[in-house]
Amino acid sequence: MSKFVYVAMSADIIHPGHLNIISEAAKLGEVTVGVLTDAAIASYKRLPYMNYDQRAAVVAALKGVSHVVPQETLDYIPNLERYRPDFVVHGTDWREGVQAKTRQGVIDTLAKWGGRLVEPEYTPGISSTQLNKAIREVGTTPDIRRARLRRLLSAKPIVRTMEAHSGLSGLIVENAFAMVPKDTSDPGSARVRHEFDAMWLSSLTDSTLKGKPDNESVDVTSRLRTVNDILEITTKPIIYDGDSGGLPEHFIYLVRTLERLGVSAVIIEDKIGLKQNSLFETGNVQPQAAVEDQCHKIKVGKQAQITEDFMIIARCESLITGKGEDDAIARCKAYCEAGADGIMIHSKSRTPDEVISFVKRFRREVSADKPIVVVPSTYAQVTEYDLAKVGVNIVIYANQLLRAAYPAMKACAERILSCGRALEASEELCLPIKDILTLI
Ligand code: SPV
Ligand code: MG
Repeated sequence: MSKFVYVAMSADIIHPGHLNIISEAAKLGEVTVGVLTDAAIASYKRLPYMNYDQRAAVVAALKGVSHVVPQETLDYIPNLERYRPDFVVHGTDWREGVQAKTRQGVIDTLAKWGGRLVEPEYTPGISSTQLNKAIREVGTTPDIRRARLRRLLSAKPIVRTMEAHSGLSGLIVENAFAMVPKDTSDPGSARVRHEFDAMWLSSLTDSTLKGKPDNESVDVTSRLRTVNDILEITTKPIIYDGDSGGLPEHFIYLVRTLERLGVSAVIIEDKIGLKQNSLFETGNVQPQAAVEDQCHKIKVGKQAQITEDFMIIARCESLITGKGEDDAIARCKAYCEAGADGIMIHSKSRTPDEVISFVKRFRREVSADKPIVVVPSTYAQVTEYDLAKVGVNIVIYANQLLRAAYPAMKACAERILSCGRALEASEELCLPIKDILTLI
């Protein structure tokens, strides 16, 4: 009987290194490839370009592959226990670094039934990392980008979203990363790459960057110019802050335009009258729209969209206006019934308590799986982990990049004024000229 040989791969971009592994594996017996699911890949790096079904179809057609099965976790062990292969084949590249622990787990598990790990020499000169970089330089299409938010929602415990208000800030959101311990309670655990998953086109930061108040003084045409600047040089999905969405008759065009550009979602808030930012601590709160009117707007927006991918997310202001949790639950339920693809619950409390209480109740009483978005600006102490645990799906860091840039620019301007020359500011506060020239 032929031997059972197991190979695992993400298989987003197949290159000669993969073909070599498969042909070496085929020499040992019948090859089953465990293709990592979107969720397994997203647990340690960026979501792949192709979805699971597309990647599995490519692998199934490769010479030497007999079967394709999903591998639901980065860890091989569940699939190894299930299939009890005679051999696992993997390149030598995982002997050091983050994957060393996974490798040891494979060796130890195979030993239980006398299985063996076989490691063909790593194919030099080509790697998925290099190819990924090249693909990123080529860019993306509106269809691929638009669909990415729904894929992220089904692959990740929480979709980490950062505001972008310009091409440059878009590049920061696209490229920033940090290597953090996989297990937050164990600083010694293997490190995984954390990136932002998506971008938030904030009305507050877009208006502020243009030196205008966040009250819809910046018109949609101008907001879309910012969107375009960001689209041109990034690949991550975009969630657009649509303010109130305007009149239903106008909202239809906004939906169609955003969808055509490849934006993934618009969030509209239940406010009427002159728009005012939700986080103002003093003064009158802006009145909320009648529930029926907001539901009507959501309905016409949903009817207007062409693709299945685009999302209309209903933002509820009841915790901001002081109407409280009962009103917020009733409204969000109505918005979901009107067709909203998700809800955003906003709060200007200094603690996350009211948001967490709302989320738990929404999950119990309204929907177990409708995406929930939160914006922890005033309750910034809350962690992504704690938000995901209670059932939040998208966290938006709505204004931090611009808030960081402003004091840095102001300090530089003041240093030049107080010194009567640029030397001190240049040397102590600025990016070196050679670095800015090579930044892009
Ligand atoms: C924005 O970023 O513009 C928002 C969130 O709408 S908030 O500023 O908190 O209202
Ligand atoms: Mg806004």
